[in-house]
Amino acid sequence: MALNFFHYFLSFLIIFKECRASTHWIVTEEGKIQPQLDSIYSLKRPYDLVALMQQEERAVQIEQLKEKLMQQKEEIDQREDKETNLEGKIYATDEDCTAAEKPLTDFDLHASTVVPFPIYKEFGDEFTDFADKMDMNIEFQKPNCTAAVDLDFSMHAFEHLTGVRDRNNMTMPPEVGLHHAVTTVEDIELYGHLVHEFLQRNNTSWILFDMASYYWRIHGNATNAIECARRALHHSPREYKDVTLINLGNILHLCHQSEEAAIVVHAAVDISPDNAICHFTLGNIYAVLADYNKSAICFANSVKIQPDFSQAVLRYHAVMCHNKLEKALEAQHISLQRTLEELREYQKQHEFWLKQHEKLLSEQAPPEVKLEQRLEYEEQKIRESLDGRGQDCFQFEQNGHMVLSCNMRRESYAQSPLDLSLNLQLLQAVENKAAAAKKKECHRTGG
Ligand SMILES: *[C@@H]1O[C@H](CO)[C@@H](O)[C@H](O)[C@H]1NC(C)=O
Ligand SMILES: *[C@@H]1O[C@H](CO)[C@@H](O)[C@H](O)[C@H]1NC(C)=O
Ligand SMILES: *[C@@H]1O[C@H](CO)[C@@H](O)[C@H](O)[C@H]1NC(C)=O
Ligand SMILES: *[C@@H]1O[C@H](CO)[C@@H](O)[C@H](O)[C@H]1NC(C)=O
Ligand SMILES: *[C@@H]1O[C@H](CO)[C@@H](O)[C@H](O)[C@H]1NC(C)=O
Ligand SMILES: *[C@@H]1O[C@H](CO)[C@@H](O)[C@H](O)[C@H]1NC(C)=O
Repeated sequence: MALNFFHYFLSFLIIFKECRASTHWIVTEEGKIQPQLDSIYSLKRPYDLVALMQQEERAVQIEQLKEKLMQQKEEIDQREDKETNLEGKIYATDEDCTAAEKPLTDFDLHASTVVPFPIYKEFGDEFTDFADKMDMNIEFQKPNCTAAVDLDFSMHAFEHLTGVRDRNNMTMPPEVGLHHAVTTVEDIELYGHLVHEFLQRNNTSWILFDMASYYWRIHGNATNAIECARRALHHSPREYKDVTLINLGNILHLCHQSEEAAIVVHAAVDISPDNAICHFTLGNIYAVLADYNKSAICFANSVKIQPDFSQAVLRYHAVMCHNKLEKALEAQHISLQRTLEELREYQKQHEFWLKQHEKLLSEQAPPEVKLEQRLEYEEQKIRESLDGRGQDCFQFEQNGHMVLSCNMRRESYAQSPLDLSLNLQLLQAVENKAAAAKKKECHRTGG
């Protein structure tokens, strides 16, 4: 009998598969709700109307959720934030990036800059003459600006800036490259000694104080470099103040006081708006401060004044490139954040969907109950077709099988339990005659 049952079950499933359609349950003659065999409406508690309605609701919800999830997934998939090499792409294609030849980060944005002394005020020949007559076997002195002249406070020396006020604990790296930019004297210690000697004779020369400052910059001593620059600022005439302001600006920039360096270099630009070096220095400072708009303007000004200033041209393009790159990466970051949030939401919804789906299945009757229900249903259907009450049903042939199909009005789902039994009719039914006969027999012998 078990074999019989199994055989029946199999043959029925094969037929059933072909006619799955959209109908899931019927109401029997006695007003019982009778689901189809593998329908989600084949419930553990087949006569529990509330459970049935909940199952219906769940099915609709799951379907809607699935649609929503699919749409969401498509949207996320189409989002243009998947570019993994955005940086490389921009560097290779953007015209500013290609003109810059290398990324902004590869430029030395702390490069030393010097505004030359007015030519007739240089100590070149005087130094050479003095050195020629000097005994080179003595111990070289270092320029000592503090010892040369006291300067507690100066109106001109930007004393309010942290970098100047706290000069005793400012540190900077040595500017070795500055050596040949400021003097032709090969031995930097001899240079220092000469500055020291000349300061002994003139302790009010702003040029000597700037030279002393350069000496200390080359040695990376910020404290002494600032002391000397303060005195240079105090003594220099207004028309040459840009020389010392660029000097002090460089020191502060190297001491990581770049905001203050910008203030000082702005003062230099005010005094000497036609000096390309001033704009160039300010461009570097703003680039370090990540103010790329201002940096680009400074480099552009520098190029306007001196079109062959290739370092300014390259840096202009590098800053423009970097600005675009940062904006693109920022936009990608925001988009990725959004995508991430959406993916998390999607994940949550998907879990909910899985749970609901599980619930939907768990509310289904176990196979043996389904089979029992099925048998009752088939029997009922045959009774109905025999006594003519299945007038909504019609027979047709499909794949060599006779199929009985019955119509049903779905809107009656939501009606009250009383109406339910009256209005619900047979859903689609499927069988071939042989299977029906076998089943009937099966049921009889089994039951
Ligand atoms: C400069 O001279 C002062 C005294 O006037 C001294 O304290 C200081 O150490 C000297 N600095 C250098 C670098 O020699
Ligand atoms: C500065 O030099 C002058 C003479 O050149 C001298 O009278 C004065 O004392 C010096 N000042 C200091 C602080 O050494
Ligand atoms: C420098 O040192 C002084 C104390 O000597 C301190 O008050 C100040 O905060 C320091 N400044 C910096 C920039 O470290
Ligand atoms: C010191 O140098 C300044 C500026 O270079 C100059 O004006 C002044 O005359 C010099 N003083 C002496 C005593 O040489
Ligand atoms: C700078 O020179 C002074 C002497 O004038 C010394 O005391 C100080 O340690 C030096 N600072 C650095 C950073 O070398
Ligand atoms: C830079 O300039 C662009 C337009 O040229 C503007 O949208 C942006 O806000 C500016 N950024 C800053 C930091 O000023």
